[in-house]
Amino acid sequence: MNYNITLVRKEDALQMLDYLKKIGSETDFLLFDSSGVPMTLAQEENFLDVVNKTEYSRMFVAKDNGKIIGNAYIHTNPRERIKHKAEIAISVLKEYWGKGVGSLLMERLIEYATNCGYTETIYLEVVSKNQRAIKLYEKFGFVTYGLNKKAIKIGKDKYYDWNLMRLDLSKEN
Ligand SMILES: CC(C)(COP(=O)(O)OP(=O)(O)OC[C@H]1O[C@@H](n2cnc3c(N)ncnc32)[C@H](O)[C@@H]1OP(=O)(O)O)[C@@H](O)C(=O)NCCC(=O)NCCS
Repeated sequence: MNYNITLVRKEDALQMLDYLKKIGSETDFLLFDSSGVPMTLAQEENFLDVVNKTEYSRMFVAKDNGKIIGNAYIHTNPRERIKHKAEIAISVLKEYWGKGVGSLLMERLIEYATNCGYTETIYLEVVSKNQRAIKLYEKFGFVTYGLNKKAIKIGKDKYYDWNLMRLDLSKEN
């Protein structure tokens, strides 16, 4: 399959809010549920407008015939002493899992981080039970360096631990 990976645009805002509600309903492994993110359309438009204008963040979307089926985000705190560390997040609609979309998005994130000129390490957190995601990350060279116990709480008493993972881009690390 040929999926189209592009930088997100302000015009994608409405679709993006719907996408986030759908993916939130399909997995327990994200920070939000079927309510999506608490942003108005205007706030989302503003966010998407800015995200690819600063050099410290990028958001990519995967599309199938114009429909958003995945997204990937990389961002860095621009403070001088920590701007060598980037963080990422990635998701794909359930009906497209296992078709290589996550890998295409990850390639774009790593390409951006490698070429931006200051990122040395990419960090992420992933629910320890999320085997599919961990396999994707390990395939690209990420390693687990720690565990954050009970990092996510769902409802009154369901907890998930997080694996803390990192990918060192510079060989000296
Ligand atoms: C995690 C996620 C992004 C992976 O996306 P994807 O499009 O399914 O990933 P890919 O198809 O590129 O597969 C990547 C790797 O996952 C592994 N994988 C694929 N199917 C798998 C399965 N059924 N079980 C375990 N691992 C599997 C493989 O190693 C695969 O690489 P390979 O096919 O080259 O061997 C996607 O499942 C998702 O969005 N899940 C819900 C949200 C989420 O958990 N996001 C991550 C939060 S940290």
